[in-house]
Amino acid sequence: MKKTVRAHTNIALIKYWGKADAKLRLPLMSSLSMTLNAFYTDTSISKAIDKDIFYLNKKRQTAQQSRRVLNYLSLLKQKFDINDHLIVESINHVPTAAGLASSSSAFAALAAAFCKYYDINANPTELSRLARIGSGSASRSIFGGFAIWQKGNSDESSYAYPLDEHPQMDLRLLAIELNTQQKKISSTRGMQDAQSSPFFKPWLKRNEFELNQMINAIKNNDFTTLGELAELNANEMHAINLTAQPEFTYFEPETIRAIKLVEQLRQEGIECYYTIDAGPNLKVLSQLRNVKDIIQRFSSEFNNVKIVNASFGPGITYLD
Ligand code: PMV
Repeated sequence: MKKTVRAHTNIALIKYWGKADAKLRLPLMSSLSMTLNAFYTDTSISKAIDKDIFYLNKKRQTAQQSRRVLNYLSLLKQKFDINDHLIVESINHVPTAAGLASSSSAFAALAAAFCKYYDINANPTELSRLARIGSGSASRSIFGGFAIWQKGNSDESSYAYPLDEHPQMDLRLLAIELNTQQKKISSTRGMQDAQSSPFFKPWLKRNEFELNQMINAIKNNDFTTLGELAELNANEMHAINLTAQPEFTYFEPETIRAIKLVEQLRQEGIECYYTIDAGPNLKVLSQLRNVKDIIQRFSSEFNNVKIVNASFGPGITYLD
């Protein structure tokens, strides 16, 4: 029987941007995220006849398009001594590769669907570790609300856990879709290249301090500190890219325009902050009372901009 699992994407407020071990996807730093209700992936697993097949949004994917997913599937099969051929069907309710971290929901859903299909009794920690091997950020999408991925130093010790799965905090995330083109530099490559920046090590050193500050901001229900810190942490990551040798950036001209608009809104007393992942789009952090004004301003300043208003999402959900 087919098994389907839903996983929501998450947005890192303290970012993961560097691997200590590429194969196991062990990170160089711990990270902290907010799981989002508006973006998710539904993935089901069923039996195939003679080879593994991957469908994305109902379209059969070519060998090349399927490579990452099917390699990961092979790894799972190997780990659990399974010889079946499988069909993976994913419906992605996230613009793929536009910097909205679709891989976080994709690999979390796939890891959980696989375990469900084979009745593998994986607890959330084990699921998080399995998802991590597919994509680092997926380790956090096992959980709802706020999650922390502790970097650890081995396969066993590197996993995410919930900080608060049902936060009461007044926190909204507006995903501003300025540019839907596929990103040109994968996060794997970006993370590798970023390590050539002279600021990479100093940034790593700040990780524990920033993580603890963020945990305190969440515990104290302090939106201002959360926003300021998320913005600083994202800018540190992008500053590292800009100072890598050779330098690179995910920013496009409209990214800077959007940053300026957030600054302008703040000057006008509309409190909001931004964070940016491995793509040109901004995610604006705000509170419910300001959402309408922010959407209005972005809509009038940018042509055809798509804005999704998100809040906290749940962890892994089993659909059948
Ligand atoms: O796990 P990946 O390959 O999707 O990398 C995620 C990288 C960032 O989104 C930029 C940061 C993060 O912690 O999610």
